[in-house]
Amino acid sequence: MRENRPTTVHLKDYRAPDYLVERVELHFELLDAGTTVTARLDVRRNPLHAAEGAAPLVLDGVGLELLEISLDDEELEAGSWQVEEERLVVHSVPERFSLETVSRVHPENNTSLEGLYRSGSMYCTQCEAQGFRKITWFVDRPDVLSAFRTTIVADRERYPVLLSNGNDVASGELEDGRHWVTWENPFPMPCYLFALVAGNLEHVADTFRTASGREVALRIYTEAENIGRVDHAMDSLQRAMRWDEDVYGREYDLDIFMIVAVNDFNMGAMENKGLNIFNSSCVLADPQTATDAAFQRVEGIIAHEYFHNWSGNRVTCRDWFQLSLKEGFTVFRDQSFSADMGSATVKRIDDVSFLRTVQFAEDAGPLAHPVRPDSYIEISNFYTTTVYEKGAEVVRMLHTLLGAERFRAGTDLYFERHDGQAVTCDDFVQALEDASGVDLARFRRWYRQAGTPVVHAGGRWDPEQGTWTLDLRQELPRIPGQDAPEPLVIPLRIGLLGPDGNDLPLDCGQLSGENHDVLEFGETEASFTFRGLDAEPVPSLLRGFSAPVRLEYSHTPARLRFLIQHDSDGFNRWEAAQRLMQRSLERATRIVAEGGEPRLGRHLETALEAVLRDTTDPRQDHAMLARLLTLPSEAWLGEQGETVDPVAIHHGREALVACIARRFRSELFASYHLLRGNLPWRFTPEECARRSLLNVCLGYLMARPDPQALSLCREQYANADNMTEVGAALRALVQSEYTDAADQALEDFHARWRHDPLMVDQWFSIQAACTRPGALDRVERLLEHPDFDYRNPNKLRSVIGVFANQNLVNFHAEDGSGYRFLAAHVLRLDALNPQVASRLLVPLTRWRRYGAARGEQMRGAIDSILASGKLSKDVYEIAAKAVKPD
Ligand code: TRP
Ligand code: ZN
Repeated sequence: MRENRPTTVHLKDYRAPDYLVERVELHFELLDAGTTVTARLDVRRNPLHAAEGAAPLVLDGVGLELLEISLDDEELEAGSWQVEEERLVVHSVPERFSLETVSRVHPENNTSLEGLYRSGSMYCTQCEAQGFRKITWFVDRPDVLSAFRTTIVADRERYPVLLSNGNDVASGELEDGRHWVTWENPFPMPCYLFALVAGNLEHVADTFRTASGREVALRIYTEAENIGRVDHAMDSLQRAMRWDEDVYGREYDLDIFMIVAVNDFNMGAMENKGLNIFNSSCVLADPQTATDAAFQRVEGIIAHEYFHNWSGNRVTCRDWFQLSLKEGFTVFRDQSFSADMGSATVKRIDDVSFLRTVQFAEDAGPLAHPVRPDSYIEISNFYTTTVYEKGAEVVRMLHTLLGAERFRAGTDLYFERHDGQAVTCDDFVQALEDASGVDLARFRRWYRQAGTPVVHAGGRWDPEQGTWTLDLRQELPRIPGQDAPEPLVIPLRIGLLGPDGNDLPLDCGQLSGENHDVLEFGETEASFTFRGLDAEPVPSLLRGFSAPVRLEYSHTPARLRFLIQHDSDGFNRWEAAQRLMQRSLERATRIVAEGGEPRLGRHLETALEAVLRDTTDPRQDHAMLARLLTLPSEAWLGEQGETVDPVAIHHGREALVACIARRFRSELFASYHLLRGNLPWRFTPEECARRSLLNVCLGYLMARPDPQALSLCREQYANADNMTEVGAALRALVQSEYTDAADQALEDFHARWRHDPLMVDQWFSIQAACTRPGALDRVERLLEHPDFDYRNPNKLRSVIGVFANQNLVNFHAEDGSGYRFLAAHVLRLDALNPQVASRLLVPLTRWRRYGAARGEQMRGAIDSILASGKLSKDVYEIAAKAVKPD
């Protein structure tokens, strides 16, 4: 907490560390009244700075009570060192020495969930990015790599399981009922990868045989009541390990790999070396309690954290500005893995939907920053969709430009060249460039320029010559405080459809990529001419969403329908449907705002009719059909115009949904009955697809009062054997006008699952998302519910987070009540958990997009936060950037 303005850290000020820590020996005594941490650091002066005079030794430390300090086993005299705010300075030190500190920390009072803290009955840690300094004095920066040896001492009864990084090398009993275990990690690592867990945990064990024949022990630890829910995580882990060997040639390196599930966690999961720690919501899954989406999330996050062992741990970041080096690359890797496990097209659609709503919004607002930011106040605020998801798109573009084979040669060189090092995004690109021979100098601009490029495209058909010319212009946003942008290299995957809907051969002379279907568009303007055409083609542009840009190309509705029907690129079939729906939605929103009744346009009606017909065809990909039937989200619609009116968007969309439901009532019932299988639950791509389409049908049927739909919905709620169907039915009931049925189901759900925190989270979030009138009152009552826990981030996200991010019509209520509600909770939470508080604040920062009246209310809410004298750096940075004049 601070009174004065916090300082900004700049990339341009990077300087290699003055001191390196080669070895760390840690000794933890876990006691109820506080934990003592003894740290012995083998330090040496950084030879890089040999030419300069010796600098004082400066160690980071936050909230530590220093009990003892000695250098080479001699107690340090007062005056030769001093503790400043968040620093320990030793004025003069030799070339090499060991420094030992003993300090006390209080995990039992740590509500920030950063450093060493308690979650339920266990101890655990979260060190990334700068939490290790809350555990002991250290050079807390990622370019200091050390060999760790960690001993944990604790009561044997209460904490039978004691875990840390690496392999366990020794253990023993003490007379007083305590015991100890020593762990050793032979791979030098930065301290942000340190982890410790102590608790009364059970585990499931399995093994993995690596490609080179080593056997690795795999263990997943949870509290006793959850141990039956880790099979899917274990299976996902084994598949991820195999996949990384097959696709990237990366083998696991230690003898043991452990995962621990904890209930209180600020983010999804953490890749600590050999000891991943997971939010229980991202590792536990069984059919009764987890939706298919949750199963997929577990699979993806297990893979993500596992993949970090190479992209992040063996090769790590030089400084936190390079965060996307590990995160963008690892997200790209986990997306590719998930695509290989199921439908690649549907995975791409889901990833792009997320990118285009959340990341595009970030890139268009006051928090816009490049994939490699150039400054920060609090690094925790930079674990963003830009660093993660746009960063993954940048790596994906490199993959597209180089092709799979050269890309693999590049990553091989990257891992070989930089194993054991802390490097930059530039080193990554350099390795790809060196291995492929492709000049990537201009491509690097993607890392330093913020904002979403707009690509304006137009086509010219020349019937005489039989040529079709594509004219492209890129428009790059100017971001306040940043240099004028330079043209980006945009890989534009393209297809041309002939009158029969088949792909025409592309004869352009400037195509690259594995399939010779990628245009490298790297200037402000460019034109590409395709020859040898008999008739005007229908272009399919930006196939697979080959670059993170907004494409402006206007297709007529008839052509969009043609693309929905024929495009060989599944992503663009979906994209065409989205654009067709978007037009209808914009029209519906206008009509409803004027008090009218919207109609389904002819084109959308015909398109939906065809898709609904396909739902009865078992050879169709039902997951794809489910997406083709789903209207663009309110959030995405809000991203389109200049100013957003979330209330109008909501009512327009609801009206169109009802319109579709009315027009296709009998088709929807027919499809629903065909899809409502009665085979026992299985987690296969086909079954997930069937369930998602089933739920889309149910959603439409329940969109208007319809007793027949109600009885189907209640039946699904009562009889389905899996949470995908039960949860969707409950959601539909809660959202419907059948409030008695909804209350009954909610009560039933709670009675059944009240003992299970993750289920209570779902119960909360279904209610917090309900857009019916009185939403804020309901949300406030949920906060008073005995099962709500203000210290648990999952609970906060389920109620406050869901309300502010998914219940847009109520969060943006005209009277500003939603904004004041959020601001009050951000302030209250900031005193407990700044990281979660600053994330909850983000929706308010977009105030400039909501028109004068709403914008003023939103801005007022941010001002009320800034008026508080004692904000964390986290919340201060977001709030201050939000109101900075542009
Ligand atoms: N490195 C983690 C990941 O993406 C992210 C993470 C987990 C994190 N916990 C955190 C980031 C706490 C900041 C603070 O895999
Ligand atoms: Zn990550």
